[in-house]
Amino acid sequence: MKPVNVSDFEKIAAEKLTQMAYDYYRSGSHDEITLSENIEAFKRIFLKYRILVDVSKRDLSTEVLGQKISMPVIIAPTAFHKMAHSDGEVATAKAAGDAGTIMILSTLSNSDVEDVVKASAGPVWFQLYVYKDRAVTKELIERITKAGCKALVLTVDAPILGTRERDVRNRFNLPEGLSIKNLLPLNKDKLPEMNDSGLAGYAREHLDPSLSWKDIEWLKSVTDLPIIIKGIGCKEDAALAVLHGADGVVVSNHGGRQLDTSRATIDVLPEVSDTVNGKIEILLDGGIRRGTDILKAVALGAKAVLTGRPVLWGLAADGQAGVSAVLEIFRNELDVAMALCGCDSVKKISGDLIA
Ligand code: GLV
Repeated sequence: MKPVNVSDFEKIAAEKLTQMAYDYYRSGSHDEITLSENIEAFKRIFLKYRILVDVSKRDLSTEVLGQKISMPVIIAPTAFHKMAHSDGEVATAKAAGDAGTIMILSTLSNSDVEDVVKASAGPVWFQLYVYKDRAVTKELIERITKAGCKALVLTVDAPILGTRERDVRNRFNLPEGLSIKNLLPLNKDKLPEMNDSGLAGYAREHLDPSLSWKDIEWLKSVTDLPIIIKGIGCKEDAALAVLHGADGVVVSNHGGRQLDTSRATIDVLPEVSDTVNGKIEILLDGGIRRGTDILKAVALGAKAVLTGRPVLWGLAADGQAGVSAVLEIFRNELDVAMALCGCDSVKKISGDLIA
């Protein structure tokens, strides 16, 4: 049967993926309360619609960091796309470009950044993990800049990796032949064999838990790319991001994979939006499964949302075509939601649509 929504794609992906890969992608940390809360919180928000508005023409396009995109949906950085499909991140990038949006490539990519940038007709941003070895981090930034990435998305909610118990049970590791491709020349491309999760072991060994606000200055000293801070969970940190000169923030709890029982991102968004007050751009990820979720996030102050797991389900189901299909589902659902709300342009979506 033809998949008609994101959850249909997850069912297909679940059948196609190995248990280790499916568990890795779907896992949250510990009791997975934040993982489900990200989705549930959207269901508690109700929309107010207006009638007798001419919605015969609808404009879904918007701009993020000066970049025009065809809808307020961006591909979130997620790791290891070749576990989902042999075409990996290159397929995802092609689908993103075809859809007129941005792909954020993970540090934990199985594909070379040059191939990913070349494959996409649209911009590619790079999600950065800061390595303990700053020379490694610097070389990585130089490489991705040379490859043509247009912004850095700095993940800040993972000083250590949250405990995903399915990965512990599976002793998660990469399948034979896959690596953290862009770290190969820097000799940090393999996950260690561990009794728990190989990725948790990798993070303990290589990623820098001492990362702090002063490192934003360091990052600015080594790159001219715009810096977006991903993992903001409260207004206090949003204020600090503005103070430290970030170009944008992502309200994110890492898809419920880090601190379990932290709040749903959509519940955090209003206080971040009040605090940031238009000074820098706000994005949000976590729990986006429907067009109405996108509309709610934009209404509450996000310029655009990031989608992670749905893209992986599309990729696993049917490679590039599957990612394209998922993006078109989001586009159509948002379009329908806007029409039925009496809103003909993404730029006109406001808090007035929230009941
Ligand atoms: C990687 O960033 C992960 O959350 O597994």
